Amino acid sequence: MLRYTDIVLEHFKNPRNVGVIEDPDGYAIEGSPACGDQIVVYIKVDPNTKVITDIKFQSFGCASNIATGSMMTEMVKGKTIEEALKLTWKDVVDALGGLPPVKLHCSVLAIDGLKAAIRNYLGEKTEGKLSKEEVV
Ligand code: FES
Ligand code: FES
Repeated sequence: MLRYTDIVLEHFKNPRNVGVIEDPDGYAIEGSPACGDQIVVYIKVDPNTKVITDIKFQSFGCASNIATGSMMTEMVKGKTIEEALKLTWKDVVDALGGLPPVKLHCSVLAIDGLKAAIRNYLGEKTEGKLSKEEVV
């Protein structure tokens, strides 16, 4: 049986910032080739300070993906997009107190979703990105 830390379990049971931002400045759907699961990330960015003022996510993945998405949104809210781009999956896994090794790519998926949403905000096309109508 996989062993999850108390922090992972707490974020899985009470995930922060779950949902949809109706008028996002950036958003992306990111899928994992490994398991076929997906995460959607929405961000609001202050145009002057470039601070991420709001972030929400929807996970169609497993407990590790939900917990990582939850922790990632908490760590990124209030940071500039430049700072957010420096966040790695390992930073988030460390903040969760670790993940079982076979579940690490579920955290990579969450961070990839964040990075894709930021790239979308920056005006770069995200490979395979769906229109918002297809996402929600
Ligand atoms: Fe698919 Fe974790 S098993 S996101
Ligand atoms: Fe799909 Fe982990 S098994 S992201």
